[in-house]
Amino acid sequence: MVGDSTDPEQLLRHFLGISRLLAGQLDYLPAIRAVAAEVQQILPHDHLDVCIILINGKYHTAYETGLSTDWGLIDGAPISKGPLRKILIGQADYIMSDDAGVDPVYHFKGSLDGPIFKHSLKSRLSVAMKVNGGVIGAFSCSSKREAVYNEHDLSVGQAVADLLAPYFYALRAAQQAKRSAIIEADAKAREEGLRLGARTLTEQLERERQNIGMDLHDQTLADLTRISRQVERIADSRNVSQEEVAIVGKRLQESMKDLRLIIEQATPSVLQLFGLSQAIEDYLERATRHIEGGLKTRFSDTSGSALEHLNESVVLALFRITQEAINNAVHHAGCQVIQLSIRVDGDFITVHLEDDGRGLPSSVRSQGRGLDNMATRAQLIGAQLSISQAQSGTGTSVVISLEMPKSHVDTNTERRLS
Ligand SMILES: Nc1ncnc2c1ncn2[C@@H]1O[C@H](COP(=O)(O)OP(=O)(O)OP(=O)(O)O)[C@@H](O)[C@H]1O
Ligand SMILES: [Mg+2]
Repeated sequence: MVGDSTDPEQLLRHFLGISRLLAGQLDYLPAIRAVAAEVQQILPHDHLDVCIILINGKYHTAYETGLSTDWGLIDGAPISKGPLRKILIGQADYIMSDDAGVDPVYHFKGSLDGPIFKHSLKSRLSVAMKVNGGVIGAFSCSSKREAVYNEHDLSVGQAVADLLAPYFYALRAAQQAKRSAIIEADAKAREEGLRLGARTLTEQLERERQNIGMDLHDQTLADLTRISRQVERIADSRNVSQEEVAIVGKRLQESMKDLRLIIEQATPSVLQLFGLSQAIEDYLERATRHIEGGLKTRFSDTSGSALEHLNESVVLALFRITQEAINNAVHHAGCQVIQLSIRVDGDFITVHLEDDGRGLPSSVRSQGRGLDNMATRAQLIGAQLSISQAQSGTGTSVVISLEMPKSHVDTNTERRLS
């Protein structure tokens, strides 16, 4: 069937109408809906759609009106699966069909041809939308009746596609610019967050150093001063009892124990000597050893030699994150069992800690920095950190996942921070 208007003057009026209706539309869908009624006058249809090739050239998205089909729901389908792929890849300028249900051009393995059957679309006319000689999409109208479109409709369709193409091209460019601006803003926000996190971590480590200094001053130095005075007294006295010497010896040992604890907190020596797996297992054991009522631990490492490929700063960050997860489980979870596993999942090394405790409170309000520090450290080494409810029950599950063997860590930053 030929559209209402074959008279050139009337056609021109409709084309001008389409241009006028397009003006000011800022998005694809409102644009296609704005012109549908005017197009109906010159190309009768039940369904109208504009299919736009996304900027990467591999995917396309359809914007439709008249009927709501699955085409309108897909956001970014591969061009290779589009029933109009011939037009989209530049092999055809148009496809015109009297009965799309049986026309092989639409039907091939993987073709997204479902709506043709579901909505009984018969006649279809699709025309390439071109800008500067390049295809940017396709304009289509479909009717539920057979053999509706002819050569005249084809030339009208081509004129409509030519009218729409530059407008949709501009909309696509604007959308891309908007998307790029959002991506850029996101990246900036992440960078800023990381910078702030890193600064807080540095400040906190500085405070820790000051604490260690104070501990050494107030505790160990004070003890040693007392012991030194006792030794002086013993040296001055003529009758030294075994008991007095034993007391000095015991105090010296206590002081050495305190000193060892302070040093242990400052440098994870097992980590340096025996590596990450051993250091984590050792820390898990030490952190849970003195818990009243007992706390069971299960440790497994099936990562083989994967950990050996990680660089020093990544290893230290992983250790610190795991250390905090263990501390939190021990101090806050009220749990009976802590399970810790290190394993390789595809290209990722995963450290998984799970407790069977009370779980995270619904809103975490604390003065603590532990969780924030874990997140910052994970970001600095490019690891994924997820803290959620344990699958096995009410407890908490902490998963740290790091792609191997590349590490994205800025070695200098991490070294400064550790
Ligand atoms: N495994 C866990 N089970 C239950 N609650 C937890 C667990 N881990 C963390 N929490 C809760 O989250 C809060 C925040 O933890 P975070 O590590 O940030 O701080 P903190 O442990 O209180 O202090 P800090 O780590 O600075 O010593 C904790 O106070 C606790 O209420
Ligand atoms: Mg904590």
